[in-house]
Amino acid sequence: MAEFTLPKNSKINTKAGKTHKAKKTAKKVKVFEVYRYDPEDQKQTNPYIDRFEVDTEECGPMVLDALIKMKSEQDSTLTFRRSCREGICGSCAMNIDGTNTLACTKAIDDCSNNQTVKIYPLPHMPVVKDLVSDLTHFYEQYKSIKPWLQASDPENPHKERTQTPEERAKLDGLYECILCACCSTSCPSYWWNSDKYLGPAILLQANRWISDSRDEATAQRLDELEDPFKLYRCHTIMNCAQACPKGLNPAKAIGEIKQAIASRKA
Ligand code: SF4
Ligand code: SF4
Ligand code: FES
Repeated sequence: MAEFTLPKNSKINTKAGKTHKAKKTAKKVKVFEVYRYDPEDQKQTNPYIDRFEVDTEECGPMVLDALIKMKSEQDSTLTFRRSCREGICGSCAMNIDGTNTLACTKAIDDCSNNQTVKIYPLPHMPVVKDLVSDLTHFYEQYKSIKPWLQASDPENPHKERTQTPEERAKLDGLYECILCACCSTSCPSYWWNSDKYLGPAILLQANRWISDSRDEATAQRLDELEDPFKLYRCHTIMNCAQACPKGLNPAKAIGEIKQAIASRKA
């Protein structure tokens, strides 16, 4: 029988978490169970779950508002990323109620009907601290697709590189990606093969440059992607499209890359 061993110190210690009580005067309390892990904590070597009771009458409407309230009023060591608080920067991506999403655009009222909201870091990524995932490898993969315009110098450097409205429209559904990693970290193929498979976010970004009429490196870009692991680990499971908080469809973008490779051989 196959035997699986979890990495050392990865198991949640169910007895170690604390409960941070709401004030007695609180009117509408919601409980948030939040993943905690600090690799530098010598006493708590395993992750644990803290319970935060938050008075949602005294809090903004989004899960990020609740996290900011927990940090400023109940436990200042709680660690998470955020910046724009309006779904633009992608830094507050985390797993809320079992779904990868942005804490700043996820309404507390849209979380599960029961009283407890579970908040974890993005799955299958190393954790830096609490809700902060280590995205170093993800960004290395992004760098590998050369995410910039590759084109020869124009005759007149003071003139814009123009596109027709139709050419520009080909970037719709691609340029909006904020690189939050919600899709890649919800993709089973990426969970098992992220060392070699580029995953939905990076492949969508690759297609953004392949689809750009101003770019002159399409052939090299397709050559680079024509690889059994980098591209062809996508099995069209479609978790990525369901997870994307911007409503994008990375699986479709991956299909378009495969089609571009197939049609240049035909
Ligand atoms: S469609 Fe492809 S990229 Fe998207 S979740 Fe499935 S395997 Fe991953
Ligand atoms: S495709 Fe969507 S989920 Fe994936 S990184 Fe871009 S914005 Fe995030
Ligand atoms: S804080 Fe920028 S996307 Fe949430």
